[in-house]
Amino acid sequence: MDSFILKGDIAYCDENKKLVTVKDGFLICINGLIEGIFQDVPDRFRFLPIKDCSNQLIIPGMTDLHIHAAQYAFRGTGMDVELLDWLQKYAFPEESRFQDLQYAEKAYSIFADSVKKSATTRLCMFASRHTDATLLLMDKMEASGLISYVGKVNMDRNAPDPLREESAESSFSETERFLREWNERKYRRTFPILTPRFTPSCTDELMDRLGELKEKYAVSVQSHLSENPSEIQFVSELCPWTNDYFEAYDQFGLLGNRNQTEKCIMAHCIWSSEREVDKLKENGVFVAHCPSSNVNVRSGIAPVKKYLERGLKVGLGSDVAGGETESLFSTITDAIKASKVYTRFIDEKTMPLTFEEAFYLATRGGGEFFGKVGAFEQGYEADVIVLRDELLKTTMNFTIAERLERSVYLGLDRMGITHKFVQGKEISSD
Ligand code: GUN
Ligand code: FE
Repeated sequence: MDSFILKGDIAYCDENKKLVTVKDGFLICINGLIEGIFQDVPDRFRFLPIKDCSNQLIIPGMTDLHIHAAQYAFRGTGMDVELLDWLQKYAFPEESRFQDLQYAEKAYSIFADSVKKSATTRLCMFASRHTDATLLLMDKMEASGLISYVGKVNMDRNAPDPLREESAESSFSETERFLREWNERKYRRTFPILTPRFTPSCTDELMDRLGELKEKYAVSVQSHLSENPSEIQFVSELCPWTNDYFEAYDQFGLLGNRNQTEKCIMAHCIWSSEREVDKLKENGVFVAHCPSSNVNVRSGIAPVKKYLERGLKVGLGSDVAGGETESLFSTITDAIKASKVYTRFIDEKTMPLTFEEAFYLATRGGGEFFGKVGAFEQGYEADVIVLRDELLKTTMNFTIAERLERSVYLGLDRMGITHKFVQGKEISSD
């Protein structure tokens, strides 16, 4: 049933990042696409089934632009060290285990079940460097009904032996095998994305060969950029001839968007220079803002308000397990809190994110990576979440905007989602 009507209290962000709310509205979905919001059902749609969600909140599904599926098992632990030590001490040992397909099966089942239950309808994921385990993750994501990009991670230097790929050539050929195998499997909602982990993990030769694959297969790219001061220092030592970290990718043709088919997501961009920010904008790169991870591994606070004002494309990333949870409700509030610390301690002239802006990032901002996703305007894909906010008992009479804000702050995504639709198809909650 991809054509139906949802009745309830509706909220989404318009293109100016302003919340639009409609009390007792009818959200009409035709063949998986939004037709519009109506106060009464027009005659021409009277034949459609109506799902009555009166007094519940109806909002767009959310996009997680950056999450490490292979780190999900240790989320919420390992908070004692900074990024580069954290990778060696926690992330790399765990990712090494995905050589074992039985382990991967268990770990990725838990991951897929969890994101299925969350408010997230779209994701861009890092798996691990292992091709077969990554394909297994793709099977699980396809079965979940969510729509996602999955990356086999490339890493041929600065990692412990079982995790470091033997050579640039083998990393390249495994990635090509991954792309071909994806093509054979004919998934409908799961797509591959090139995933050079970050410059410290990839030799120039490997980056160069991934640039070739990007051209040959017209595939998008995701990676990390300007996250942590020690990492940036390391990159400047590894690539002394580049202007900045952006150029360390760009010199291999990994960041452009020539055909409008390949896109690019860079996570973090906390310490980007003026030139780097200009380049991000010029190339239409999506910045995945990951506020929880940025604090946990002591990287800093990205100037996300400035990025929005400069017209960059920005969405949110949970960055599990740098971030402790896949909940984008938590990520929204973390983004707002981090932006307030930024205003107080870093730049008083940069105002904090408003709730509306942070909600926009989680819905429309990141959704744009997938096309017309994250809003309830005509032609948008019908990714929808329904929330029973009466579970959050109160004596107050709130507006829809206030109900949404407290639902997000109070973590209603953990127990209050009553329906979840992706492209108009309901995702079962079992
Ligand atoms: N940079 C390179 N790899 C990683 C990772 O797994 N997590 C984070 N937060 N940053 C990275
Ligand atoms: Fe990350």
